[in-house]
Amino acid sequence: MQVKESTFLITGAASGLGAATAERLVAAGAKVVLCDVSDSISRHAAQLGERAKACMADITSSEQMQLAFDVAAKLSEEKGVAGVIHCAGVISVAKLVDREGNPADLDAYAKTININLVGTFNVMRLAAATMAKNTPNKDGERGVIINTASIAAFDGQVGQCAYSASKAGVVGMSLPAARELSRHAIRVMAIAPGVFETPMMGDIPDEAAQALAASVPFPKRLGKAEEFAQLAEHIIVNSMLNGEVIRLDGGIRMQ
Ligand SMILES: NC(=O)c1ccc[n+]([C@@H]2O[C@H](COP(=O)([O-])OP(=O)(O)OC[C@H]3O[C@@H](n4cnc5c(N)ncnc54)[C@H](O)[C@@H]3O)[C@@H](O)[C@H]2O)c1
Repeated sequence: MQVKESTFLITGAASGLGAATAERLVAAGAKVVLCDVSDSISRHAAQLGERAKACMADITSSEQMQLAFDVAAKLSEEKGVAGVIHCAGVISVAKLVDREGNPADLDAYAKTININLVGTFNVMRLAAATMAKNTPNKDGERGVIINTASIAAFDGQVGQCAYSASKAGVVGMSLPAARELSRHAIRVMAIAPGVFETPMMGDIPDEAAQALAASVPFPKRLGKAEEFAQLAEHIIVNSMLNGEVIRLDGGIRMQ
């Protein structure tokens, strides 16, 4: 799968990992649709020039995401959408029982699951239906879906029941989705980032960030969004990567 002149849809593209991926793919000659619930998405797309289009959409909405894929299909000028890099997501922290003995808020739990897991399924199903119509490229490939899990899917910490479960669900869908979509020549991969320096991590106090960086075996620092983008680009071009989740974490194992 080549990046140059191909069209990709990127969710969560107004910030962090998604924004860096959009930037990298445009620099490599791709056309991109930047999709996000944030209205700053238009500004981000404008900064990337005419090969980037913005689409304000909520990943949990069937209609809004279908519209985003329609925008991407149009941008591709009949070539079809080659891939989706799905980065949109939210973090949440809540203990099952708080200090006063109150049970966790059930709606807050469901909200995290809805955005991170149901939203991912929504993006995947619409991406698959869109890309299944593509004419296969010279290697017989129709498209690639790259989801974003987290190392919390494997090493969830206290307070991460909702976040870990949502990301474990993303991990769990990778293989069955890849198996199913193989007959359409569409690959499905997921990246499980460790701790990355993005606005999502912005609220962590300096001390905590330094402690996290120190707990990474090597390199002893937080990940950079560009490093996520670099891996996303590699997954696009390397057709043997399929049905797998890649940890991108400097070897950290959360306690
Ligand atoms: N930063 C990290 O350390 C880290 C680690 C592991 C996994 N992740 C995952 O990587 C992904 C990207 O995280 P990030 O660090 O770039 O975060 P971020 O907060 O910088 O960016 C996330 C983007 O997703 C958008 N978004 C949230 N809900 C949405 C919705 N319903 N519809 C559309 N867009 C929505 C936000 O507006 C935001 O622009 C997330 O799925 C996150 O869980 C991040």
